[in-house]
Amino acid sequence: MTGPTIVSIVNHKGGCLKTTVTANLGAALARAGKRVLVLDLDAQQNLTQSLIGSVELLDGTPTLYDAFLDEASLDALITRTPQVNLDLVPCAEDFVGADLSLVCAVGREHVLRTCLARTRALESYDFVLADCPPSISLVVVNALAASQWFLVPCSAEFLPMVGLTLLGNSVRKLQKIAPDLRLLGVVLTRYAKHERVCRHVESLLRRELAGNLFESIIRVNTKAKSAPSVRRTIFEYEDDPAGRGTVDFTRLAEEFLARLDAASDFPKEELVAHG
Ligand SMILES: Nc1ncnc2c1ncn2[C@@H]1O[C@H](COP(=O)(O)OP(=O)(O)O)[C@@H](O)[C@H]1O
Ligand SMILES: [Mg+2]
Repeated sequence: MTGPTIVSIVNHKGGCLKTTVTANLGAALARAGKRVLVLDLDAQQNLTQSLIGSVELLDGTPTLYDAFLDEASLDALITRTPQVNLDLVPCAEDFVGADLSLVCAVGREHVLRTCLARTRALESYDFVLADCPPSISLVVVNALAASQWFLVPCSAEFLPMVGLTLLGNSVRKLQKIAPDLRLLGVVLTRYAKHERVCRHVESLLRRELAGNLFESIIRVNTKAKSAPSVRRTIFEYEDDPAGRGTVDFTRLAEEFLARLDAASDFPKEELVAHG
């Protein structure tokens, strides 16, 4: 296969750790020697702030929003992060207008796909992870239409669990514009073993989703709340191989790679039929 594997990190619910998973799964893959590009597609710019700090809007300096408007290459936007092998396409404040601008664009669902196809550096990456905003907006549709896979972080609570059905229904409607898109899996996040609701949600989802639920879980972790404020991934922040987040995200990356590996052993039709 040529070019990177592109995965959208998506859930229309906010706070379920999309951004945290994008940054730290990206960092875990990078530490495993993979070349990773993460895209900040949320005008809240949390991924950008977590990895490099805010991007200033300067006259004449193109932004992700400009790239979307012009269906331009993302090459000029790619920025290194302190983590070796982990690069970022940052988001600036003007991206808040992206959805409205996309409404009138011809082929509006495929703008990001075109931008990526025009990005020369893309072929040097193994993975692209797209951090999506908490909505099912045109920006998210663009991310999904440009991806081969989507991964859904879901807080181990009742309401987010119910929301998964709605998300599944919405994604199914995108089949026409994203026929190759497949679910890589749902990842339970903010898991606290001592909370009954977490254990209950986990057992329900293990039964309902079976193989579509990652074995790996992201546990509740106070350190993960502070890491972005000093622009550190959880690996740098904990600086401890036995740290909770370090262990969780290392495991998640291992399972992520194993799932992709396993999928490449099956013809696509079979995966869709069982998806
Ligand atoms: N393991 C964790 N346990 C508890 N809170 C976390 C954990 N990881 C991150 N957080 C915090 O949860 C909040 C929401 O996470 P975030 O990744 O921004 O969610 P989303 O992108 O889905 O809106 C952030 O303030 C973040 O610092
Ligand atoms: Mg986010």
